Amino acid sequence: MFERLQKKWKVNGLQLLLILCTFAIGGSLTGYAGRKLMNIFAIETGWLWVVVYILLITLLWPMAVLLVSIPFGQYRFFTGYLKKMGRRIGISRQSAVSSQQPADNTSVLSTVNRHSDSYREPAELAIFASGGGSNAQRIIEYFKNSSSVHIAVIVCNKPDAGVIQIAAKEKIPVLLIEKERFFRGDAYIPELKKYRVSFVILAGFLWKIPSSIIQAWSGKIINIHPALLPGYGGKGMFGNFVHEAVLAAREKESGITIHYVDDQYDHGATIFQARCPVYESDTASSLAQRIHQLEHEHYPRVIEKLVSQQSAVSS
Ligand code: GRF
Repeated sequence: MFERLQKKWKVNGLQLLLILCTFAIGGSLTGYAGRKLMNIFAIETGWLWVVVYILLITLLWPMAVLLVSIPFGQYRFFTGYLKKMGRRIGISRQSAVSSQQPADNTSVLSTVNRHSDSYREPAELAIFASGGGSNAQRIIEYFKNSSSVHIAVIVCNKPDAGVIQIAAKEKIPVLLIEKERFFRGDAYIPELKKYRVSFVILAGFLWKIPSSIIQAWSGKIINIHPALLPGYGGKGMFGNFVHEAVLAAREKESGITIHYVDDQYDHGATIFQARCPVYESDTASSLAQRIHQLEHEHYPRVIEKLVSQQSAVSS
C-alpha cells in the first residue's frame, strides 16, 4: 500500500512518512478545533449539530493540514494536493487540458502543456544519453529526493552503453531506440507521452533530435556541450575531438555550455556557461576530466532552475 502511495504521489519513503504525519496531525487538529468551535456556537446535539460540524471540519481541514505541512516541509505537496481536490469537486479552476484526459488521446503539445497545468506534480524528465552516463548519474542523484523533478526514463540508442547499467541500478526505465523509427517513424513520441515527459535532457546523446520532438517539447529540450560554444561545436564535435581541437588551438580557457536544442548541432540559445583553465601540460583526457567536473557541478542545478522557471511561467 505504501509503495502504491509513493508511486502515486511520486515521493520517497521519508516524504511519504512526513505526508502521513501531516494528514494525521492535521486531522486531529481539525477535530479538536471543530469541537471547540461547536461549543462556542452552543448548538444542541442533533442533526443540526452534525451538519454544522461537518461543514466546519470541511472548512477547517485544508487550513489545518496546510499549517501542519509547513514544519514538516510538505507545504508544496499539500498546496498541490488541495488544489487537485478542489478541481475534482469543482471548486477550483479546471486546467485547460484536463489531467484526467488519457495521454494517448491528446496531442503531443497538450501532453507537454498538461504537465505545466498540473505544475505541482514533479516534472517528468527524459534523459537522452548514449555514453558512460556520468552526467545522467549526477542528475539522478541530485533529484533523488526531489518533489519537483522526477527522472521518468533514460532514452538510449546503444544497448551496451554504460548509462543502461546506471538506469538498472537506479531502477529507472530505459527506452532503447533504433534509428529508423527515430528519424523516419514517430520518433518514439508515444512512449515519451506515456512517461508524461515534460523536459528532454540530453547528456551525451549524439544523434540529432528530430524536428517532431523539437516542436512537441519546444523550449524544453536542453543539451550540454563540453566547450564554450559557439566555438568547438557542430557535427563531429563530441568527446575527445572537442578537447583535442581546444588543445590544438592553444586555448587558455575552455568550459561547458548548456543550451536549448534546435534543429542544428550545438546551435540553440545558450542558457549557461562555465569556464575552466586549460594548462600547457593538459591532454585531452585531463581536460575532459576538468570539464566533467564542471558539468556535474552545474548541469543538475541549471535543470532545476529551468524546470522551476517554466513551471512558474505556465502556472
Ligand atoms: C559530456 O561531456 C557532455 O558534455 C557531452 O557528452 C558527454 C557525456 O558524458 N554532451 P557522460 O556520458 O555523461 O559521462
